[in-house]
Amino acid sequence: MTERFDAQAACRWIRDQWCELAPDGLQDWSEVGPDVGIVLGSGIQFPADGWTEYCRVAVGDIPGMPSPSVAGHGGEWILGEVGGSTILLLGGRVHLYEGYDVEEVVRGIRVLAALGARGLILTNAAGGVREGWSPGQVVAIEDHINLQGVTPKMGIEAASRIRNQTGLFDQHWIDRTERCYRNDSKAGATDGFPRGNYAGLPGPTYETPAEVRMLRKLGADLVGMSTIQEAMVAVDCGLRVQGFSLVTNLAAGMSGQPLSHEEVMETGRRSRGRLLRIVDAAISTLDPDPSQVKPG
Ligand code: HPA
Repeated sequence: MTERFDAQAACRWIRDQWCELAPDGLQDWSEVGPDVGIVLGSGIQFPADGWTEYCRVAVGDIPGMPSPSVAGHGGEWILGEVGGSTILLLGGRVHLYEGYDVEEVVRGIRVLAALGARGLILTNAAGGVREGWSPGQVVAIEDHINLQGVTPKMGIEAASRIRNQTGLFDQHWIDRTERCYRNDSKAGATDGFPRGNYAGLPGPTYETPAEVRMLRKLGADLVGMSTIQEAMVAVDCGLRVQGFSLVTNLAAGMSGQPLSHEEVMETGRRSRGRLLRIVDAAISTLDPDPSQVKPG
């Protein structure tokens, strides 16, 4: 078992750094904390146009935080602002397949919650299992199928951690995001985005074609190696959660081509524009518009 992680100590360390690093006038901000955290999938680079960066810290310097070993998972946390919301980009995601245990995989989420965030947007690169999608498609995660063999709730205190797992991904927030995205004239996105079920596997190998056929029969639309554990812990910590998969490749056996990590990274780089617009829409709709909330 890994040593106990002190999310509050990590949180204090980050606040101290921000006080030193933040531009003049922003020091007070570091008492307030981010509104939304964003976890970046393979090859998906942020920040984007219209985002203001305040400061960044290397993940490996944060006490107790694991550092990523996989190319494409930049190891920095970047604090910034977009459209009036304070955001924290959580680069440096780590995975079960790197040999980290589930509690290490979710440490960043615990720190985000300790910093006072209210929402979390998870992004990932995924294989498209549903017929008819092409690389570059962005899909909102509606539900997940956990085939990773672990949950962050295992352990000696397990009995107190038995929780409902319905509605992990906040469907109301997804609805608001989609409406906002459709109305974004720059995005030319009148058709919104599809929703699907994400199957999480341990990795690091991609699936076999037979496994992909099995996943489709199980009701999966997407397949990947991340996100599930983070979503579970975030909801446990009281955060609202949304997840978006960028389909970087058709799942194994669907295109006649072998899968490669380079293809995943390249599609991530090429297609990030649409994902970023959807993420912008998600950030600006974290809270329901009071004028739209029915009384009673
Ligand atoms: N399978 C699993 N994980 C992935 C894939 C895939 O096809 N593409 C990107 N991440």
